[in-house]
Amino acid sequence: MSSPKGTVIVTGANGGLGSAIAEQVSSEPKFNGYHSLFAVRDAKQAPALESVLSKESHSHELVSLDLANLDHVRQVAEDINARVARGEIPPIQALILNAGFQDFGKQIWTEDGFDVTFRANYLGHWLLTLLLLKSMNKESGRIVVIGSQSHDPYDKRNESTGVFTEERYKTVVTDQAGFDAIAKGTWSSAKEDPSWRSGFRRYGASKLFLVMMVYGLQRRMNTDPVLDNVCILGVDPGTMMTGLQRRATWFIRVLIFQIIYPIIAFLIPNGPVRTTGQSASRVLHAALESSPELGASPKGLYFLGEELYEPSAESRDTHKGDLVWKESVKYTHLEERETILRNWQ
Ligand SMILES: NC(=O)c1ccc[n+]([C@@H]2O[C@H](COP(=O)([O-])OP(=O)(O)OC[C@H]3O[C@@H](n4cnc5c(N)ncnc54)[C@H](OP(=O)(O)O)[C@@H]3O)[C@@H](O)[C@H]2O)c1
Repeated sequence: MSSPKGTVIVTGANGGLGSAIAEQVSSEPKFNGYHSLFAVRDAKQAPALESVLSKESHSHELVSLDLANLDHVRQVAEDINARVARGEIPPIQALILNAGFQDFGKQIWTEDGFDVTFRANYLGHWLLTLLLLKSMNKESGRIVVIGSQSHDPYDKRNESTGVFTEERYKTVVTDQAGFDAIAKGTWSSAKEDPSWRSGFRRYGASKLFLVMMVYGLQRRMNTDPVLDNVCILGVDPGTMMTGLQRRATWFIRVLIFQIIYPIIAFLIPNGPVRTTGQSASRVLHAALESSPELGASPKGLYFLGEELYEPSAESRDTHKGDLVWKESVKYTHLEERETILRNWQ
């Protein structure tokens, strides 16, 4: 297969935002010439994705990927790396880390005792990225992280929810033991608070770690002899009506997300509530396009929709970012031979 413009990888491509990204990348003429690799949980059952692709002739394939399972992440990354090395698919132009999970208080764990929210949203994506660096386009490849207001206890959009009112939830990363409690789901557990708020805080922590990765990985790549032209950036897509709310109560899932928010989106088209199509175009802009706000090399930038945005102070704290990075190396058992990043530890 020859495709001069490169491979675009999208995780969670069967979801609301993911399928909107897939629809645009496969149908808009400006994205012609890319090969897409759509990662879904089960490639045999991806109805939302298939419904948007059926009409398109875009070069693409579906790949099964369970981000909560690190062995599976390794298998999938190894396969992609081997195919890029053999020239079967072109180097990765954009790696879009879109998959996301929110338990709304119905907390679940992996077989080896990790909180699924932490593993799927953050650790699986972190490992996937470190493993796939060898297949990135080294001149202009981009990695895009999907952020969220939940990463910042001080974000004004969270004020009315009461999620972060208690002092103990205003700081997420304290020390190694605190990080371990988030990874194992004992921090803000559903046992301690059975409401949706416990899950939102753990979801927010996983998003904070992803935003920290924007800064931590970019810093490491900037001093890397091979990866110094590769960019990582973040996009907060705003609030959208998607499958993310499927585990929520009727009040949140139906009344707020299916009735009130669509009205807000209709009345205020560029307001806090967005359609998946609007957000998908911002994600693809960050991943594949150029513009004055992105500059020639959009390194370590974070956007709220189309606006450059400053994420939380905690996400930009180098000391905390290093703690999270080192613990991530430990939890994934990453080895030197697995990544080309020189400063991987
Ligand atoms: N919706 C919002 O208001 C909002 C706001 C800010 C940020 N975001 C972010 O936007 C991104 C897209 O979410 P969405 O709103 O489109 O929700 P969605 O419709 O639920 O899509 C999320 C996708 O992630 C996949 N996923 C979940 N756990 C996974 C795992 N362990 N392994 C592989 N894939 C997994 C899901 O697969 P299954 O379908 O198989 O479960 C689903 O296809 C997420 O990063 C989310 O955090 C959403």
